[in-house]
Amino acid sequence: MILEDLSCPEIDGLREELIALCAQAFAGEPWREPPARAVKVVDRFYESLDRPGFRLTVARLDDGLAGFAYGYVDSFCASLDPSRSFGEAFELVELAVSPLHQGRGIGRKLHDALLAQAPSPRMLLTHQALDLRSLYARWGWRDLGDVVIPGSESTLALMMSTGVSLR
Ligand SMILES: CC(C)(COP(=O)(O)OP(=O)(O)OC[C@H]1O[C@@H](n2cnc3c(N)ncnc32)[C@H](O)[C@@H]1OP(=O)(O)O)[C@@H](O)C(=O)NCCC(=O)NCCS
Repeated sequence: MILEDLSCPEIDGLREELIALCAQAFAGEPWREPPARAVKVVDRFYESLDRPGFRLTVARLDDGLAGFAYGYVDSFCASLDPSRSFGEAFELVELAVSPLHQGRGIGRKLHDALLAQAPSPRMLLTHQALDLRSLYARWGWRDLGDVVIPGSESTLALMMSTGVSLR
């Protein structure tokens, strides 16, 4: 497997692979997202390229893109933090591995590689499902509880990491 941090010219050609990967990765539990949602996820990704601190890490195998993780520095997650102890954070926005390649350590490697040079604190929003929350807790994240996303009816789990690995 090859893990790479990509910058803008290389990212331009990834669109179709990202859509296919997201459609597969988010079709299963707990997300059960329709395939069309993958296009929105990837549109949001391309709209984020100019954000401060943007970072993308991809995992490649012989058969193509196996997974990706990206994030940027933002105040959105921090504004949802009930303690309001800081103004902005590195937000881990998406982490996804193709179902063909899950359970082989690729997700953890992508997570660690993306965060290796990301500033602290780090925050993420994820599904309320307990297995995802416990996965991130094992990977060093603290569960800050459920938050309602302003302007939507979604409730997601807010998590924070100070960058100290529990491993
Ligand atoms: C979550 C995800 C990125 C993990 O990738 P992966 O390559 O399978 O992860 P790894 O092989 O590095 O780690 C496997 C661990 O993840 C756990 N795991 C895998 N998929 C999981 C899921 N959907 N929910 C909870 N835990 C999961 C395994 O139990 C295993 O735990 P362990 O390390 O304690 O044994 C991958 O399952 C995925 O893309 N899921 C769909 C998208 C998603 O939910 N992304 C994260 C939230 S944005």
